[in-house]
Amino acid sequence: MTTAPSRPAVEIRDLHKSFGPLKVLKGIDFEVGQGEVVCVIGPSGSGKSTLLRCVDLLEEPTAGKIWVNGVEMTDPDVEIDAVRRGIGMVFQSFNLFPHLTVLNNLTIAQRRVLRRGRAEAERVARANLERVGLTDKADAFPAQLSGGQQQRAAIARSLSMEPKLMLFDEPTSALDPELVGDVLTVMRKLAEDGMTMMVVTHEMAFARDVADRVVFMDGGVVVEQGPPQEVLGAPKHERTRAFLSRVLDPTHVAQLGQPDQSPSPSPAPSLPTDDRHNL
Ligand SMILES: Nc1ncnc2c1ncn2[C@@H]1O[C@H](COP(=O)(O)OP(=O)(O)OP(=O)(O)O)[C@@H](O)[C@H]1O
Ligand SMILES: [Mg+2]
Repeated sequence: MTTAPSRPAVEIRDLHKSFGPLKVLKGIDFEVGQGEVVCVIGPSGSGKSTLLRCVDLLEEPTAGKIWVNGVEMTDPDVEIDAVRRGIGMVFQSFNLFPHLTVLNNLTIAQRRVLRRGRAEAERVARANLERVGLTDKADAFPAQLSGGQQQRAAIARSLSMEPKLMLFDEPTSALDPELVGDVLTVMRKLAEDGMTMMVVTHEMAFARDVADRVVFMDGGVVVEQGPPQEVLGAPKHERTRAFLSRVLDPTHVAQLGQPDQSPSPSPAPSLPTDDRHNL
C-alpha cells in the first residue's frame, strides 16, 4: 500500500535457542512485513518471549539468522545499539523510573540517546502522551498512575524514540481486567496508524481484530500461521485447536499454561466478543 522498503521489518531464518541443555526454539522461520501487525500466540513455555527477545538480541541465538529492517542482527560486527534505536519494546512490567515524572520518563532517553534538546524532547513527549490519552499526567510520578496508565506511559516513552518496529510482550497481562481495554485501544490505534508490530498476547479478540497475521507457537516451533480468521476461526492443526479451546472456554481458563493434553475438541472454538474473557 505504502512505498515500503523491499526488506521486511523482521526476517528470521532457522532460529535455534537453547538455555544449557534446554532447547527452547527449534528452527523458527518468521517474518514481519513493513506495516504488518503479527500476533504470536501459544501455550506458556512455548518460546514466545524468547523469540521476541531474540529479535533485538536481548537473547543471543544459538543458531540461525535475524535481520531487522535489512540489517543482520546476528552479524558479529553489527552496530547493535544503532539498530536497537529503531525498535521499541513494551513488556508486561512497565519499568518507568519511579523518581522521574511521566514527562521526564519520556524525555530522558530522547535527550541522552538521540541528543534532542529539552524543548524538542518535551514537544515529542507531549505529542505521544496525547496519543495514549495521558496529556493530564505529564507531571505525575509513576506511583500516582494506575497500572494501565503506567503501561500507556511506557508505550508513549517507546514511541518518543520514533521506532520503526514495536515489540510487545503480553503488555496487558499484569493489568487488572478493567484496565486492559485502554491499553488495547492505544495499540489498536497504533496499528491503524501503520506501525509495524510484533505482539505476543493472550488477548484473542485483539489478535482477531487487529492482527494481519497470527502465528501459533508450541514447543519451540511455529505450528501454523495465517490470517486471524483462519488460524483462530478455522485452525488446521490439532494443537492449535486444543490451545484455542482452552483459552477461549472460560471454564477451562485454569488450564492456561499447562502442558498440552490435547482433549481433541473437534469443532473450531468460537471467539469471545470481549477481550477479557480469555485471561
Ligand atoms: N534465561 C533463561 N534461562 C533458562 N531458561 C529460560 C530462560 N528464559 C526462558 N527460559 C525457558 O525457556 C522456555 C520458554 O520460555 P519463554 O519465556 O520464551 O516462554 P513463553 O512462551 O513466553 O511463555 P509465557 O506464555 O509463560 O510467557 C521455558 O521453559 C523457560 O523456562
Ligand atoms: Mg512470555
